Amino acid sequence: MSSREVEEEDASPPKKLKCSTTFRISVKLPPSLGHHLNLNIQAVSKCLGSAVAKRMSVYGWQISLKRPQIEMVANVMNNTTVLIGVPLSTKPLSERPYLRHIPLRSTVAYAVAYSAIFPHHKYEQPAEKVSVIDPMCGAATILLELVKSFGAHVEYAVGIDNDESQLEKASENVNISQEPFISLIRGSVTTASKMLNRWEFDCLVCDIPFGLKFSTVLSVKESIPLLVQAFHDLLDKRNGRMCLLISYELSDELKQALQLQNQFKLICEHSLRLGKLESVLLVYYR
Ligand SMILES: C[S@@+](CC[C@H](N)C(=O)[O-])C[C@H]1O[C@@H](n2cnc3c(N)ncnc32)[C@H](O)[C@@H]1O
Repeated sequence: MSSREVEEEDASPPKKLKCSTTFRISVKLPPSLGHHLNLNIQAVSKCLGSAVAKRMSVYGWQISLKRPQIEMVANVMNNTTVLIGVPLSTKPLSERPYLRHIPLRSTVAYAVAYSAIFPHHKYEQPAEKVSVIDPMCGAATILLELVKSFGAHVEYAVGIDNDESQLEKASENVNISQEPFISLIRGSVTTASKMLNRWEFDCLVCDIPFGLKFSTVLSVKESIPLLVQAFHDLLDKRNGRMCLLISYELSDELKQALQLQNQFKLICEHSLRLGKLESVLLVYYR
């Protein structure tokens, strides 16, 4: 791809319209691919930027590297494919009017919620409404995303956390959202089933702490067998399913513990990025 090819391709532009939009294109090119294709990011950005500027000059589009109104992204996937992303809204995708506290990015919470309702990632209508528990709910971001986005499929939702300050945030979020289907309880995941008189839920969602602190005595890694037992106790013994978000680092440990327990089957697995942290979303069925 060269600037000359871009120029030659250009059709004669219609009369210029009055308006000005500034844009820039950020290129993502893995270094190994760049080396292989003999391309560098600056050259690709320049080439794509001038191509778009030329095509869109009739609408007053201009390149602005410092403060563009539109930030486009070009992801060079291989030597035949470039994925171009153009924002469709000026608001961030993660913005939610019903959340005051967002400890877990709401788009990630949506992914967990979506997997809970459509575990096979097909838009099949679930046969019945499901009851859902998040036994380490924090500010209840996942439960709120679940009820707001897929409320028609949710019978009721329960959030548990052992930290009072987290529950305060959860309660504020739930109040703002005005969702009556979410109940919040203070307690520990390990004793939740007993506390709820062995009540069983159809679905469990959980954003497992990433190793900072699980309880005062055990690390998250050491607690994984306890968590697995707690999840088993909380779920319907015939059809229970769960969607677990965990750091990539701890995911093998969790998968092994669940395999050892021999109660759940891994349905699918998705890699996600939480800032710089690699994480995994695991969907299990009984
Ligand atoms: C990764 S955070 C969950 C964040 C949550 N997804 C949100 O949106 O806020 C993990 C949560 O687990 C809670 N937690 C840690 N140990 C717990 C335990 N033994 N029982 C219940 N909750 C626990 C922490 O208080 C924290 O809120």
